[in-house]
Amino acid sequence: MTDTKKSIHGQWSSRFAFILAATGSAVGLGNIWKFPYITGENGGGAFVIVYLACIALIGIPIMMAETMLGRRGRQSPINTMEDLAQEAGADPNWHYLGWLGVVAGFLILSYYSVIAGWGLSYVVKALTGSFSGASSAEIKTLFEGFIASPVQVIFWHTVFMATTMFVVARGVSGGLEKAVRFLMPTLFFLLLLLVAYAMNTDTYQRGIHFLFDPDFSKITADSVLTAMGHAFFTLSLGMGAIMVYGSYLPDHVSIAKTTVMVACADTAVALLAGIAIFPIVFANNLEAAAGPGLIFQTLPIAFGNMAGGWLFGILFFVLLVFAALSSSISLIEPAVAWLVENKNLSRFNASVFCGLATWFLGLATVFSFNIWSDFKIFDRTLFDLLDYLTANLMLPIGGFCVAVFAGWIMKQEHSRQELEMAKPEHYQIWKFLVCYISPAAVFLVFLNVVGVL
Ligand code: PFF
Repeated sequence: MTDTKKSIHGQWSSRFAFILAATGSAVGLGNIWKFPYITGENGGGAFVIVYLACIALIGIPIMMAETMLGRRGRQSPINTMEDLAQEAGADPNWHYLGWLGVVAGFLILSYYSVIAGWGLSYVVKALTGSFSGASSAEIKTLFEGFIASPVQVIFWHTVFMATTMFVVARGVSGGLEKAVRFLMPTLFFLLLLLVAYAMNTDTYQRGIHFLFDPDFSKITADSVLTAMGHAFFTLSLGMGAIMVYGSYLPDHVSIAKTTVMVACADTAVALLAGIAIFPIVFANNLEAAAGPGLIFQTLPIAFGNMAGGWLFGILFFVLLVFAALSSSISLIEPAVAWLVENKNLSRFNASVFCGLATWFLGLATVFSFNIWSDFKIFDRTLFDLLDYLTANLMLPIGGFCVAVFAGWIMKQEHSRQELEMAKPEHYQIWKFLVCYISPAAVFLVFLNVVGVL
């Protein structure tokens, strides 16, 4: 099957191109914006350990499974799941797993685009020297003033969404593959520079202790769920993004090796972001649990006070936006691919349709930080609710189903053939993880949250 089938949407030009695209999808706001603030909110070290364990035991095996399913199906996740279910003689309802992903992608992109819009506006703020010499109080006021203004935030959300749609409309290996090739290494370099700055603050050790000294008394059932949900979010798992990217992967590329590389790069970026940010938080007596505004209230202080900070500030936010862009296109790709396959839409029309729908939904997040900030459901703002629903519930449920399908439903000879592991033991390890460990872990975390454990 794999030898003959190709996706109608095109294919990555090489193994390296896939690594770049998957890394592009994985590395995004999740690493630089979300990881630090949820680590801050959940008490630091112990949370980081739970998160790392989730990446290793749940994330990597499921990422391999998702890539494998995508490559074998070679279509949008909905159609892929339908075909693979048929191939395995299983219930056709498995294609609802694809639908779950499409809906999750819309919901995530709706708020992702708003936050990426914050990043865009910070490019301009950096350019116009707004951070130069500013105190931490001034930076905080700047941020609060900005998110309080729906008009400004909507403007940047619109710019980001339009850019995403433009890139998606151009297809798989057009501009993006090339852009990511250059952007990812540069982003990495800039993060190292920020880490170097953080190392020179008096509070560097404090930041490191906060990040890496586990205090398990700070861990609650909900923080374990957040850590697990974030492992899915940061690796782009459980919603078909990696599945659809896998469907563009040439045959005979090692899925295991590429997946491990992507997961390691992703984790490294998140940890570097944490190492850069927390010393600055403590040096300026800021709140580690400041929430979604954390990076916007810390990094500008560093840029405003370091030599060359003007340029680095601009570069950093430009790169943040590009990292977000290479993730956002993967959030919407499953839906676009499905519309092209099933509704006979051109890529362009499918992109515009998805873009408009997501843009509209994004308004809920925009208003969560200003005019609707008091509107709460289950004690959460609309933004918090969207985030909780997608990252903590939909992605783990999607990932759980991927693991069950790959481990239990798909014929062993097919997964073995698709994964082409160098050693039989490696296949056995993966199979064991995906059959037992990953689904059981997700299940236990859920039981824990509903208070059964
Ligand atoms: N992995 C991205 C990040 O960390 O920013 C977010 C994301 C992209 C989640 C694609 C899910 C997805 F399908």
